[in-house]
Amino acid sequence: MTLLHPHTRLAPSPPALLDLHPTPDDMRADVIAGLSATPKTLPSKYFYDARGSQLFEEITRQPEYDLTRTEIALMQQSMREIRLAVGPDAHVVELGSGSGRKTQLLLGGLASPVAYTPVEISREMLLDATQRLAYAFPDVQMLPVCADFTRPVPVPPSLIPAASTLLFFPGSTLGNFDARQSVDLLSAMRETMGDGGLALVGIDLVKDVADMEAAYNDAAGITAAFTLNLLARLNRELGADFDRRRFSHVARFSPERSRIETSIVSRGLQVVRVAGHAFVLEDGEPIHVEISHKYTDAHFDALAAQAGLRVSHRWNAPADRFGLRLLEPA
Ligand code: TRP
Repeated sequence: MTLLHPHTRLAPSPPALLDLHPTPDDMRADVIAGLSATPKTLPSKYFYDARGSQLFEEITRQPEYDLTRTEIALMQQSMREIRLAVGPDAHVVELGSGSGRKTQLLLGGLASPVAYTPVEISREMLLDATQRLAYAFPDVQMLPVCADFTRPVPVPPSLIPAASTLLFFPGSTLGNFDARQSVDLLSAMRETMGDGGLALVGIDLVKDVADMEAAYNDAAGITAAFTLNLLARLNRELGADFDRRRFSHVARFSPERSRIETSIVSRGLQVVRVAGHAFVLEDGEPIHVEISHKYTDAHFDALAAQAGLRVSHRWNAPADRFGLRLLEPA
């Protein structure tokens, strides 16, 4: 018989994983296709290797990048109203594996959430995040799903029946999808939540252009290091020969498209080799790497409507610097 010290906390047993076996990323094929396109592009999902994830954490601490701080403060200020709007016994389904502050605030702020389902393509990140949250929330059943969250996801049933499914999609990650993809994603969310479901979505709002551009051009150069780290990753993992000193980070607001457009721009005419392919870059030629939409209410409401959703509650940070929207089936 094993005697446990009365203060010993048993580690929660590893959560049962629903693995939908999402197709693994083919970075080589994606990169060759992107650099063969006109204009050239590289998918932003490849920013987040170990160094990239670390640099992104640092971005969120830069004085110019206030999205994360503002969203967290807004969640804290609005939590009472969010709790009332959502009601008790929700099953929280997060798109992406949130191990951080926002997930903790939500699970801690809702009335007796019954279960938490992070949806994440990387099995490792998914299990890491779930394990950490299992310690912090022993009364919330952990039901992770390994899947591509841009498609509808089957929500595993919880032991205690849930009163509703609440999707959680913070960080203005929706803004990183183009107009068509974001409607597709919201439609998938509509299907995942079911008829009585809800979604809490974070969106960055249109504000002063200088402020929006500064957030993607911090003075310490962390965002530049973050985007250019992608080239280091391609050198390492695909045997590419990018010379980082011959590229610049550029991020500008496009008023026509209401988004920050980030690119890696070639300094001088050059040839780069990636996995047996050679690509010519003209002097000043951009490789598009990210878009970050900034929303007005009219713009976001229209996207939601196209996906069969309507905004039931809106919370804005002071000076309308960031927004949280609660969506329900239209
Ligand atoms: N989702 C974040 C955003 O669009 C990610 C991000 C912040 C980012 N800074 C960046 C992506 C710079 C690419 C380049 O705000």
